[in-house]
Amino acid sequence: MKDFSWECRTKVRFGQGCVREYLAEFVKEFALPGRNIMIGYGGGSVKRNGSYDDVVSVLGSLGYSRDGDAGEGRMIVEFPGIMSNPTLRRMKEGAELASLMDVGLIIGIGGGSVMDCCKAISVQAAYPGDAWEDFWMKGLPMKHDIIPCGVVVTMPATGSEVNGCAVLTNEETKIKCDRDYPEMNPLFALMDPVYTLSMPERQLKAGTFDIFSHIMETYFSRPLGDNPADDVSEGLMRGLVRDFRKAAADPEDMTARSNIMWTASLAENRIIKTGKSKDFQAHNMEHQLSAYTDCNHGEGLAVLHPAYYRHICGDGLYKFARFAENVWGLSPDDYEETDDLALAGIDALADFIKEMGLPSTLRELGFGNEERALLPEIAESCFISEGAFRQLTHEEILEIYEECW
Ligand code: NZQ
Ligand code: ZN
Repeated sequence: MKDFSWECRTKVRFGQGCVREYLAEFVKEFALPGRNIMIGYGGGSVKRNGSYDDVVSVLGSLGYSRDGDAGEGRMIVEFPGIMSNPTLRRMKEGAELASLMDVGLIIGIGGGSVMDCCKAISVQAAYPGDAWEDFWMKGLPMKHDIIPCGVVVTMPATGSEVNGCAVLTNEETKIKCDRDYPEMNPLFALMDPVYTLSMPERQLKAGTFDIFSHIMETYFSRPLGDNPADDVSEGLMRGLVRDFRKAAADPEDMTARSNIMWTASLAENRIIKTGKSKDFQAHNMEHQLSAYTDCNHGEGLAVLHPAYYRHICGDGLYKFARFAENVWGLSPDDYEETDDLALAGIDALADFIKEMGLPSTLRELGFGNEERALLPEIAESCFISEGAFRQLTHEEILEIYEECW
């Protein structure tokens, strides 16, 4: 096991009605006194699933009034229109608004895109320099006091609610880049599984696979030996397969919905990363596909994972065989060689992706000849992971993309 330090400062309240029950106490605890509160959200789903109304009603009861009808008191500053795969430009617009409106607490309501954008706004709005250049590009230490930020989750996927990661796309340089600073962990996360009931089926599939991917990206990383974090990961992966099947069969199954929502957080609150190097090469490859084509994150990962794992299977054979046995229930007795067992585990993963109804090829992801012609440039732009069983070259990344065609 690698040496590690672990912390997760986010205070989580999980369950039906949690916003109405706990938001007020978090506002009293974290909002900077005398200043306004910004609520950030996306394209409007929050207004259909009750989360927006719940937040505004609690803030109203604390004396915050909505933009436009503000009197002497403090205001709710609305920042809607945070798109999926949030752009650097939109983040900067949010930061300018937060500075202009003297915001002392930011609440992101939505999925990973909204949460990431709001977390980044909280950093940029309190920073005199260019946060993208200094933190996302150069990775400098974050020493300034950022604006307090909390989140209300409406879609389980990224685990952004319990980590310090925020992913932004610089649409000019075509770089999609994540950074994880403990300072960026939300101060609080309110997780009401009822909000997730309005998610389209497509997002349930994509989000669930993103969670599965986060677990695999950590599980399949050095060191190869046994580790309690990997034991937990196997349980989370088995549970996710079970809960996805139940939620797909009955979208109103609140137990399955709640389990998926909390699994997203358990995959990303850094517990399963303890003692591990973390790979995230599949994520790096997907992020650049997304930077160039704006494809869906979970769907892009579904296309890439099996092909990537067939490339590195021999470099982490022990763990791939354990995955086949402990996640997919395959028996070593049925295979002559460990390689065969390991590859059968990857086949089981590919079968599950098909069963979920996710794309398995770039064409199914919506790529045409125009996008195909970009693949060499996209491959060249990918970050190479240092935590992988074996580091890829840009040439091999292009091979993987081509195999996914
Ligand atoms: O825009 P709205 O109206 O909110 O609709 C969203 C969006 O269209 C919709 N949605 C969310 N909750 C809903 C709902 N629709 C109906 N009912 C609900 N309850 O779902 C769509 C997708 O939302 P989005 O936030 O984009 O999805 P996701 O949570 O998958 O986030 C993706 C972004 O997070 C980044 C990805 O790269 C991508 O930019 N990631 C962030 C990570 C992190 N912070 O740790 C790690 C991940 O690996 C990932 O890279
Ligand atoms: Zn992800």
